[in-house]
Amino acid sequence: MDKIKIIGGKPLNGEIEISGAKNAVLPLMTASLLTDQPLILHRVPNLRDVASLNEVLAELGTVFDYNAENKTLHLHVPTITECVAPYDLVCKMRASILVLGPLLARHGEAKVSLPGGCAIGTRPVDLHINGLQQLGAEIKLVDGYIEAKAPHGLKGANIHFPKVSVGATENIMMAATLAKGDTTLVNVAREPEIIDLGKCLIEMGAEIEGLGTDKITIHGKTFLRGTEHTVIADRIEAGTFLIAGAMTDGNLTLKNSNIMYLDSLIEPLYKAGVEVTGNKSSITVKRINKRLRGVDVMTEPYPGFPTDLQAQMMSMLTIAEGAGMVTETIFENRFMHVPELSRMGADITVHGSSALVRGVDKLKGAEVMASDLRASVSLVLAGLVAEGETIVHRIYHLERGYENIVEKLSSVGAKLELLKEKAA
Ligand code: EPZ
Repeated sequence: MDKIKIIGGKPLNGEIEISGAKNAVLPLMTASLLTDQPLILHRVPNLRDVASLNEVLAELGTVFDYNAENKTLHLHVPTITECVAPYDLVCKMRASILVLGPLLARHGEAKVSLPGGCAIGTRPVDLHINGLQQLGAEIKLVDGYIEAKAPHGLKGANIHFPKVSVGATENIMMAATLAKGDTTLVNVAREPEIIDLGKCLIEMGAEIEGLGTDKITIHGKTFLRGTEHTVIADRIEAGTFLIAGAMTDGNLTLKNSNIMYLDSLIEPLYKAGVEVTGNKSSITVKRINKRLRGVDVMTEPYPGFPTDLQAQMMSMLTIAEGAGMVTETIFENRFMHVPELSRMGADITVHGSSALVRGVDKLKGAEVMASDLRASVSLVLAGLVAEGETIVHRIYHLERGYENIVEKLSSVGAKLELLKEKAA
């Protein structure tokens, strides 16, 4: 398997262009199932997850064409030719569960493999299933598949999510756009990616009120049209590089990224002695003090501190003066990066869902293993500041969510090299 070799100690200086958001483009792609007209998405990042979801959509009758040069993805589903999303495809990319709502709404029937868990947790989908049942779907779990039927179409309902869920909000919001009558969703997730999906659905003719608040109302329509939509910038990629700039004591500017989505990161960074400035199209990061200071962070649903930046923040805390407490409240097993960071000399003690990170003067380069997407990038960040050479194994995890990360970091001074696995 491919690896990345990193020689630490180089500050990141210069400009990086931020790509379209992985967690926006995936639900946007499944929205193509809601219409028989073409959906054209711009600023689609060239990621494994995008390719995997295209495979699932093609199984269902989608004709797609992705231009990796201009980052445009054409999706067209004239008719749903198959309503089964098979296990071998869904297990590769659990966001495939987002085809369930649109398939059911458009086609009245769907058979989607249960996605199963992943490195960071069991990842249940009960909120997706309960929501669709409240919209009138008959759902059975048979041999690891979700078998859903709505022969007479879906019917609007008042749904109160017992727990905030990004994916369940997206699935049910999409399904409700073609339900008969009105649907209110209460206690919805409010991530910017959900607002981006909602805006695209409105461009397709859906009637949605309350985007960005914890209550959304959808007035069902009989059909949706195609549209062209530009995907929002990836705030998690941006946050990752802001942390990298702070760790390496560089002066880094991110183009094409909106500072307003990162308030919950900027505040702890400021407390740690890092200044972040910018506007809705560019963000700059640099240290205020010589040494970083330890701070506490706790992950929460948006607008709280993003769980997808938890591992990266922990990486920064390993070299900050003093200590910082990292508390993960969203997923039950999202500390897979801890043992690997410890192998590089980090001083981290885990107590349940909290990790106490005591800063050390220096990390030492080592061979480390990537596990999930964000844990993998936290090891790259550690390698950027570690003394000597770090080899990060299993970097296919990284390629799922970070477009051209080796090129982007190298372009601002990092010493990275992609070590391709020799063909056997
Ligand atoms: C989305 O996952 C993101 N993925 C995740 O990003 C992100 O970490 C997560 O939201 C939280 O922000 C995409 O958007 C493709 P949830 P999702 O449903 O929708 C529990 C990354 O690294 N839950 O908000 O799966 C769940 O177990 C990935 O880019 C239920 O109990 O997250 C978790 O504890 C990782 N039942 C919590 O809710 C359900 O039916 C939040 O999950 C659904 C979720």
